[in-house]
This record gives sequence, structure tokens and C-alpha cells, in this order.
Amino acid sequence: MSSSLAPRSAALPPHTAVTGLQWGDEGKGKIVDLLAADHDVIVRYNGGANAGHSVVIGDRRYALHLVPCGILTAGRLNLIGNGVVVDPPLLLEEIASLRAAGVTVDQNLRLSERAHVVLPWHKQADALMEAAMAAAAGEASKIGTTGRGIGPCYADKAIRSTAIRVVDLLDPAGLRLKLRRIAAVKNAMLAGLANLAGMPFETIDGEALAAEYAAHGAALAPHVADTAALLHEAMADGKRVLFEGGNGALLDVDHGSYPFVTSSSTTSLGIYPGAGLPGGRIGRLVGIVKAYSTRVGGGPLPTELDNAVGAHLRERGREFGTTTGRPRRCGWLDLVALKHSARLSGATELAVMLLDVLAGLEGLQICTHYRIGDRVIDRFPAAIEDLATAQPVLVKLPGFSAEISACRRWEDLPAAARAYVGVIENYVGVPVSTVSVGPERGQTLMRGR
Ligand code: GDP
Ligand code: IMO
Ligand code: MG
Repeated sequence: MSSSLAPRSAALPPHTAVTGLQWGDEGKGKIVDLLAADHDVIVRYNGGANAGHSVVIGDRRYALHLVPCGILTAGRLNLIGNGVVVDPPLLLEEIASLRAAGVTVDQNLRLSERAHVVLPWHKQADALMEAAMAAAAGEASKIGTTGRGIGPCYADKAIRSTAIRVVDLLDPAGLRLKLRRIAAVKNAMLAGLANLAGMPFETIDGEALAAEYAAHGAALAPHVADTAALLHEAMADGKRVLFEGGNGALLDVDHGSYPFVTSSSTTSLGIYPGAGLPGGRIGRLVGIVKAYSTRVGGGPLPTELDNAVGAHLRERGREFGTTTGRPRRCGWLDLVALKHSARLSGATELAVMLLDVLAGLEGLQICTHYRIGDRVIDRFPAAIEDLATAQPVLVKLPGFSAEISACRRWEDLPAAARAYVGVIENYVGVPVSTVSVGPERGQTLMRGR
């Protein structure tokens, strides 16, 4: 065993996917950063600037939103795939702040010409829709979005006639025509929503926006590419590819806790359309699991702890959003939800993160079933009403008081910590390959190495 992710042997499959198996913020950034050492190309395929992936290297902490975490490793090619929704000023800001921190960002970052563009009306619509729903149906009906315009942008992608893609930013005359036409429709839509929400809105000036976004297009042009073609060429050249999932599987638009989800395919299922990859090429799928549950925003969290244990998890785990700074809701680990998401992500191994945060709790609990009315089930329900009323059936496990953040080998962990990890892998039926005991690269235990 070693304290860092050792190079994989030639026998292991060359391409790897990293997906979060809960409601986001599982620690994907840390694992992508570690695995980047052993891959040539890192690809984001879903979501947008709603994601916040933290990477700690020495005394520096980086928060990445749109740029793959592979940018922090020299010599890697980083692709923002067609399935990502890109906010140009935010992306330019992220690139500038990475450069200011001494990170090289040039031809090592490529952006799909087919990616959809988040525009100011998407952010306005995001906020107005939340307010309109709250006004019509109460606060609990709010999704609690990140306000980054993600849902409205993906909606326009599906609507088609009101969408703008990165390739459109590179044609100023065409962009002007499109934005003038779309602005008229969007202004009517925003006015209607603003009226319902009882809030003001900012009228969109298509002309001015066209000039602004053509300038963003010009600034991004050196990075714009057919990323799917680059991906296929890299694979044909024998390069190893790492796919970095945004958000978490339980926020998946098809398989998550709908409607309290995001608007993209967040499981590994999203890789194929979102990067332009036919199925069957990825042999290693690492499911990232926080040792407990967190959720930011609205929607049910069956194991939520509104007590001292929840406060312990929030404080020790520094559970405040990387993107919005909101406090995250905390609870016991939910194996019902985890088994569902591990299956849908095709996880071949699990990485259990933030195990150190559990140290000092007198006893641990883990949810194995849901009690809904007089039924006890071990399936993640489709109806949000079921999930909202589900009472967790909890199994008690011994806690561990010793700090484990200095442990570097599996054998160094207290027996109770090892038993806790054992319960996870037995229930989910997928081996735990990696245990993380702190945010830093070295605070990582690899089993069987
Ligand atoms: P992501 O969105 O899945 O990449 O996760 P975030 O970066 O939003 O949130 C995970 C947080 O946990 C970050 O602040 C990480 O630095 C931190 N982190 C990652 N692994 C560990 C760990 O094992 N222990 C502790 N205490 N913190 C960790
Ligand atoms: P990473 O990649 C945690 C949540 C929001 C909200 C819901 C919908 O850092 O794990 P959206 O703005 O996407 O329409 O919001 O999804 N959400 C996340 N929560 N981590 C994320 O990303 C998230 N991305 C979206 O809080 O509840
Ligand atoms: Mg995050």
C-alpha cells in the first residue's frame, strides 16, 4: 500500500471515469487531481458552473467550476465537452484566476464548439422561476438552484430555436441576428415570469449582448475545438482518458431525486452524449462517496440530521458550498440511495471520502432501508412524495474517537473505521479501493497497493 495513487499497472483498463454518487460535493476534485497524474486527457462532459471542485495542493486550494481539474497537472490536455453548458465571462474569469495562480492555461484547455452558452437571461430566468414558484406554491417548491442559469440553458438546448452554442460566438454577424431574434422572445418570457414573481427584470438588448459575447468568443477562440474529434484522436493514439463528472448522481435529471435535481446526466451515463463517446470504452469507473450525506439546495434528504451530529459533520467537514458558499445539509450515509447511484454509474470501485470527519462521534449510523407508510423498501423511490416522507431505517455501528487524518495505510485505521467501510462495500457490492482522510493529496489510502 502507498499513500498516493500509484501508477496503474498496464493490466488495468486505460480509460477512467470519476462520478459522484450522492448529491454532489463528494470530493471528486481531489480524486480527479490524483488520477490526472496517470492520464493524458481529462474531460468534463456535463453540468456547468454549478459545479465547484476543490483541489488542495500543498498550501494552495483551487476551486474549479468549468475547467477540468487536470489543468493543475502539467502536460495534460483538458477538454470541456459538448455536454457542458458554458458561461463565457465565468470561464474567462476562471482562466484568468488560474493563470494568476501560476497555472498554465493555453492549448492544454480546449472547449467544444458544440457546447451550449449560458446567457444573462438564463440566470435571470433561473432566479425568477424560483421566485415565481415560491410565490405560487411556497418556499418548499423551490429547487434551490445555484442561480447559474443551468436549467434554463439546458431547456433552450432542447427548445433549439432560442439556443446559442460556442460556435455561434465565433461569427459576430450571425450572432447579432440570432441574439436580436432571441432577445425579443426572452424579454416577453422574462416579463411574464417577473410579473408572477413580483420582481423586476432587466430587459435584454440583443445588439449590445451580441457585441459583448462576440468579444468573449474572440477571447475564447484559441481554445475552441471539435473536442469529440480530439478525444477520438487521443484514444486512437493510445492516450489515457479520465472523465470528470460534475454534480452528483442523485442530481441526475433522469435518475436522481427529480424534480430536485440539476438538468444534465450526472451519472457516467452522461459521458457518452456529453463527450461524444460510443459506449463500452471505459473500463474503470470510480464512484466517489462521501462517508456521510450532504445536500445543498432544496429537496428531500432522508437521513438529514438537524442536531448536534449534523453540526459536527458540517463543522468538521467544512460543509459550505464551493460555488455558492451555502451551508450544506448533513446526514448519515444513505446506502439505499448509494446502491441505486452506484448501479447507474456502473461503478467498478468506490472511493470513500472525508472518513476523518466521522472521528469523535460516539456512535455511527447508516441507512439500509426506507420506511414509507407501512412499507419498508430498499429501492430508491421515483415519487418525490415517497422520498420526502421516507423514514430512514438505521443500523448502529461503533464509532472511533482517534483522529485518522495522519493515517497513511489501511491497516493504520481504527477497526471501527475499517468496519464502517466494509459495511459500505458489502451493501453496495462494489469494492472500496480508496479511502480519503483529509483534503491533501497525501491523505489518501489505497487498498491492495
Ligand atoms: P466535489 O464537488 O465533489 O469536487 O467536492 P467539493 O470540492 O465541492 O467538496 C469536497 C470538500 O471536501 C473540499 O473542500 C475538499 O477539499 C474536501 N475534502 C476532500 N477529501 C477530503 C477528506 O478526505 N477529508 C476532508 N476533511 N476533506 C476532504
Ligand atoms: P459539484 O460538481 C452540489 C444542486 C443545487 C441545487 C440543484 C439544482 O460541486 O458536486 P442547478 O443550479 O444545477 O440548477 O441546481 O443541484 N447542485 C449541486 N450541489 N454540488 C454540485 O456540483 C451541484 N450542482 C448542482 O444546489 O440543489
Ligand atoms: Mg463541489
